[in-house]
Amino acid sequence: MDSKISKADDILQKMLSEKRLKSVEDKRVGSEVFDTITLKTLYKLANDGYIHRLNGAISTGKEANVFTGIDKNDNFVAVKIYRVTTSDFKKMQTYIQGDPRFRIRTTNKRQLINAWVNKEFRNLQRADEAGVKVPKPIVAKNNILVMEYIGDEEGDAALPMRHSDIKNPEELLNKVINNMKLLYTKAGLVHGDLSSYNILIQDNEPVIIDISQGMTKDHPIAEELLNRDIENITKDFKKLGVKISAKEIRSEIIDLKS
Ligand SMILES: Nc1ncnc2c1ncn2[C@@H]1O[C@H](COP(=O)(O)OP(=O)(O)O)[C@@H](O)[C@H]1O
Ligand SMILES: [Mg+2]
Repeated sequence: MDSKISKADDILQKMLSEKRLKSVEDKRVGSEVFDTITLKTLYKLANDGYIHRLNGAISTGKEANVFTGIDKNDNFVAVKIYRVTTSDFKKMQTYIQGDPRFRIRTTNKRQLINAWVNKEFRNLQRADEAGVKVPKPIVAKNNILVMEYIGDEEGDAALPMRHSDIKNPEELLNKVINNMKLLYTKAGLVHGDLSSYNILIQDNEPVIIDISQGMTKDHPIAEELLNRDIENITKDFKKLGVKISAKEIRSEIIDLKS
């Protein structure tokens, strides 16, 4: 076994014995997500009280895994951990370049991921301050983002709109449009990957997530991405029987009076 692996394993064992990680099942998930730096970062976040315990995975995505965590005050938190091995660096570079907030010129993968996570954190913060319903960001460190947990008191995570039973799609659409409008006009951001997969439904309220690629509206490709977001939302609500065109949604978001 090479020294890198055994070192990661040591930290993993330590976290298991201190009951920071719940079970071996997480360890199995762990072995593909948690390289040494990730484990060190996790351990630091644990010592700082942000993550007292890491429970099971809510989602294993292409680039990131999202876990249910518990902080030192027994509150649920969502822990999103980007995997250094499978992230789409080309995409990250495209979205980070041209954003005046991130003038980084790096091809170093780890630095890019860290900037990416930082971007998601700052986008969430900016959206939250503008009144958009998003998970409140708590802390970002290296490739790990800790944020407000969207779910119920038992620790069951809210489902994405795509997998939810929507009782009143018209009402939901109005709320989604209102959030898109606040994001664009107040936060000055375009989400860039908005669809029914990145909207969670909590108590009939939409919560917008996964905003790492979100960019300021003066970014050269912001307009194109806004239109794509609008198209996605139009299609997703059409499937639910709502008759609305992309043009109508657009005119509500870009209300020239506001
Ligand atoms: N704050 C959160 N609270 C509860 N569940 C979340 C939260 N953030 C993400 N999730 C869950 O994790 C999944 C993936 O998160 P997301 O940010 O969309 O990452 P990905 O890049 O993998 O799409 C979501 O569909 C949702 O089920
Ligand atoms: Mg997503």
